[in-house]
Amino acid sequence: MTIERTLSIVKPDAVAKNVIGKIYDRFESAGLKVVAAKMKQLSRAEAEGFYAVHAARPFFNDLVNFMISGPVMIQALEGEGAILKNRDLMGATNPKEAAVGTIRADFADSIDANAVHGSDSAENAAIEIAYFFASSEVYSR
Ligand code: TYD
Repeated sequence: MTIERTLSIVKPDAVAKNVIGKIYDRFESAGLKVVAAKMKQLSRAEAEGFYAVHAARPFFNDLVNFMISGPVMIQALEGEGAILKNRDLMGATNPKEAAVGTIRADFADSIDANAVHGSDSAENAAIEIAYFFASSEVYSR
């Protein structure tokens, strides 16, 4: 396994539920390190740019409105196999299909308010980390 970085977002629903710390505990307990972090109220343009790959999908507008409905907590996570490990911790996109004990099974209410984002490939992880963090803001250990 190689050491990877991935981009994670605690979405507005989970920030509002006050479970940032509980979600960070999942990362740390699985051996992922938080190497960059910031809380941010996304602008519409930032949210649209982040999810540009979904621009043609029917849920795009609702997704953007949800992502700007409150502040998000954005972090880069680092560790062995971090991209897949984080996806495993998150669980399926639809919390009703998410495995028991995953973040989405435990903290998400619906497919459109599903608690967390996580990069799905090494290529996207690099793009997404650079979208929110300057390289000087990432503290690799
Ligand atoms: P996607 O990248 O497919 O899922 P994931 O977040 O698990 O990588 O979709 C991005 C987000 O778009 C997803 O977290 C929630 C939203 N979404 C919907 O609201 N409805 C849908 O049918 C899908 C597929 C996604």
